[in-house]
Parts: sequence; structure tokens; C-alpha cells
Amino acid sequence: MTEMNYASQIKAAKEKLGAVILAHYYQLPEIQDIADHVGDSFALSRLAATLDNEVIVFCGVDFMAESAKLLSPDKTVLLPVKDAGCPMADMAGAADVKKMQELHPDAAVVSYVNSTTEVKAHSHICCTSSNALKVIRSLPHQKIIFLPDKNLGAYAATQVPEKEFILFDGYCPPHNETTAADVARLRKAHPVARLLLHPECPGEVRQEADFIGSTAQIIAHADESSHKEFIIGTEEGILHPLQQRNPDKTFHLLSRELTCRDMKKTTARELLDSLENMQNEIHVDENLARMARSPMERMLAV
Ligand code: 13P
Ligand code: SF4
Repeated sequence: MTEMNYASQIKAAKEKLGAVILAHYYQLPEIQDIADHVGDSFALSRLAATLDNEVIVFCGVDFMAESAKLLSPDKTVLLPVKDAGCPMADMAGAADVKKMQELHPDAAVVSYVNSTTEVKAHSHICCTSSNALKVIRSLPHQKIIFLPDKNLGAYAATQVPEKEFILFDGYCPPHNETTAADVARLRKAHPVARLLLHPECPGEVRQEADFIGSTAQIIAHADESSHKEFIIGTEEGILHPLQQRNPDKTFHLLSRELTCRDMKKTTARELLDSLENMQNEIHVDENLARMARSPMERMLAV
């Protein structure tokens, strides 16, 4: 079937269900083009909490669909591909949080939304890459346990030096693979380009950046910048909106490693199947959901 045929069938199936399609910027271009809303983790979580639609189809990975379900417990949330997960989220479990808390009972537990519902349930507050600094600064605690991403945690520690950070050793595999050697190679090939990075990149890369932010913040920065050429240090899916919105600007991906296999599992075919068969509905244990909802709501209130 052609892309256009899929698009018209997806639209018809979506209207029949009264569904809304949300997609992260890391999704395939065909999915971003079909979606009703494309955004970063924070914008999509906030949106999921306010939408009227009975059915939310989340084109992303499991923690995103679960976050939407936590914030909209009465809605049907579908994840088009059942095994679209996040390797970083799966690195930390509730036992890890408890262990860190036992060692640092006076610390606040801040969990990145890229975490399991279980980890969220044992946290004081959640954050995304776009509001991590704001969330951490809002806490009265001097000590912060941050998980699962050691890179976002280390970045926050450099930006909020008045607090002490205890970091879990998790990481996003594609971002963590980027190196200072990649930066040197790309800077040599494109000497006037600005380097825009996601904070999930390691320290040796972050220290070379001209700008660090979430996917939405990177896009906003490129939109507003008077510069014409950029090196992009985040997952390749972001090149689609960057190029669409800025046809007069050039974007180079920092590394070939910057592909998230799980984000690429959702195709137009899977999305159509999910809508037509109400496939892969997200269910979260009610007790766990009650516990995990508060840290998510606290984040939204900051
Ligand atoms: P955001 O910029 O949306 O926080 O992206 C982070 C991410 O890795 C989503 O998987
Ligand atoms: Fe997880 Fe990284 Fe993929 Fe995002 S890009 S879903 S953090 S593995």
C-alpha cells in the first residue's frame, strides 16, 4: 500500500474511534506526518492529560504511553507496537531506587520520565529533559537521587551546583555512543555549523555544545537562530521537523549511532492495525498507577 493510502485509511479508522494520534519527534517521518500532534516527552505528557478524545494512540515507546495512561486513567491508550520499549528505562527498577534511598534517606528521588511506572511510583517527582533543571531547583532538598540517566543527571549537576547529586548508572544507548571524536570530525567538515545537543549525550560531547536542550528546545533554537548550519546531537528522527520547518538551513547528524531502534518500530502499517483492531492497549496496575501519578502530577505543577 502507498503512504497516501495508509494516511487516508488511518484517518478514517481514527475518526471512527474518535482517537487522537500523538507522536514523538524520534518517530519515522511517515508517522510524524500522520500524527495529530508531534512533540517532545513533556509536551506530549501535558497534552495527554488535557485531551478530550476517548482513545489516545501513542506513537513512541512504552514509558510514554504508560505516562499518558497514568495521567488519563479513564482513557484507552494504545501503543501501536507492543515491544517498542526504552532500553534506558529498563535499566532501573524499584529495588535500585530503594537501595539508593537507604543510603541517602535525606535525598529527593527525581526520576526522568524515561523510566518504568514502578520507578516513578517510588519517586518524589518526575522530570523530562525540558524541565529537569526547573524541577530540581523547585525542590527544598539539598541532595538529589537522579535516575535512570547518568548523562542528564550529570548535566543537571553542572547547572545546579548548589545541590548534591547521586546518579544511577543508566544511559540512552544511541546518545551515549556519541564521542568527542564525532564532534571533532563534524566540526572539521562543517566549521561554521552550531552544535545543538540533547543532554542524554555524555559529558565529553556536552562540553563541546553551543546549545543543550530537549528535542522541542533544539527545534525552537534552530527555528529562531540566525545561523544557517547545524550539527545535531540527538536521535535522527528530529531531522524531519528541523528540515521541514527550516528549508533554508542545513542539518548534519553528529553520529551514525543516533538511531533508536525502538522508536523506529512503529510504521504506518502498525499504526493502522492498532487503530483497526484496538491493538496493544496499555494497562497499568491500579495500585502502582496511584503511586506513580503523584510524581507525574507534581512535575506538571512545577
Ligand atoms: P525528549 O526531548 O522528548 O525529552 O526526548 C528524550 C527521549 O529520549 C525520548 O525517548
Ligand atoms: Fe530510550 Fe534513548 Fe530510545 Fe529515547 S532514544 S526511547 S531514551 S533508548
